[in-house]
Amino acid sequence: MKFTRGITSLQPEGAFVVLAKAKALEAEGKEVIHLEIGQPDFPTPAHIVAGAKAALDERWTHGYTPSLGVMPLRECLAKELRESRGVDWGPENIVVAPGAKPVIMAVVQALVEPGSKVLYPDPGFPSYHSLAAFVGAKGVGIPLVEKDCFAFDLEVLERELPGTSLLILNSPQNPTGGVLGREILGRIAEMAVRHDVSVLSDEVYSRIIYDGTHHSIASFPGMKERTVLVDGLSKTYAMTGWRVGYGAGPKALIDKLGLYLNNNTSCVNGVAQASAIVAIEGTQEPSQMMFEEFKARRSLIVDGLNDIDGLSCVLPRGAFYAFPNISQTGKSGKAISDHMLDCGVALLPGDDFGPAGEGYIRLSYANSQENISRALGILKEELPKVSSGG
Ligand SMILES: Cc1ncc(COP(=O)(O)O)c(C=O)c1O
Repeated sequence: MKFTRGITSLQPEGAFVVLAKAKALEAEGKEVIHLEIGQPDFPTPAHIVAGAKAALDERWTHGYTPSLGVMPLRECLAKELRESRGVDWGPENIVVAPGAKPVIMAVVQALVEPGSKVLYPDPGFPSYHSLAAFVGAKGVGIPLVEKDCFAFDLEVLERELPGTSLLILNSPQNPTGGVLGREILGRIAEMAVRHDVSVLSDEVYSRIIYDGTHHSIASFPGMKERTVLVDGLSKTYAMTGWRVGYGAGPKALIDKLGLYLNNNTSCVNGVAQASAIVAIEGTQEPSQMMFEEFKARRSLIVDGLNDIDGLSCVLPRGAFYAFPNISQTGKSGKAISDHMLDCGVALLPGDDFGPAGEGYIRLSYANSQENISRALGILKEELPKVSSGG
């Protein structure tokens, strides 16, 4: 078979690659502490699981549901977004998909022509550059600056914006834990309007923010018309495996995304959609409890990393990732990641997230305090033994 140029240019997400290697080691009987994959280690809250059981009994299993998502879910998402983001969206502005990832792919396919330019954070979520390459676009990573709490380098952004068809933002960020505050978002919004650029705002960590409040670029003047906001239930409600995400944006775009999903997945599993309504309308206490635990783990891991010779880690302001600078060790992220996996700790090299991630490693703290402490102990002991040639 002869593969297309697009499929040949797709890249895997490093976290899934290391997870598969770690699982293979576990199958051989070895113990691995998982700090590679970005999924909450908590069970899905009991009231959401109960909602799913009720939905099974109420025959939400039977048929295809509308490709844009069931109306009660779209209504409740529009209400939630009006309250949390202050943007006047209705159900006609919402599309539901099996996770945030398929929404990102659909948006890229809907808005980006081959040969045009897509901008995204570097380091950033790997799907962004992979999807830009898939559609034959010119992907340009905009460096995040560690000393500015991993905010965009706005000078580079301004220089690259002319001729761009899509600017992808992510806040709070994977992998850095950085957060784009109100002021910087305002400046980016002003530039996006001036250069007439559409924006995909990936906000899947919007509820995991430790200092200050979450702001969406969609709420800035002139942005509602040019922004598609992407969020989902995976991270906030420990529902990664349930596959429910959504996009919010101009109705004309949402209708096109519905058409795309109609040709692709047809619809999202009805039981998962019913459970999503329970998650959003029901008690937020379990999510708050998970958030408090993430906050405690954040201190534990950042203090522990800063206590290791050669590592320096800024305090993440959101999400559940630590992104320590390893440049003082003289070793590559890949060499550290490979060595640590052999020692039973799975973590990721920073350049899995783009060239500007070289000189960093990413550790997900979606794991227990006990496991994080053990992993830090192993890292402290093993880091000097990592080969510097790798
Ligand atoms: C920045 C970012 N966007 C999107 C996703 C995908 O989320 P979902 O599980 O809703 O597809 C992830 C998952 O790791 C992520 O980190």
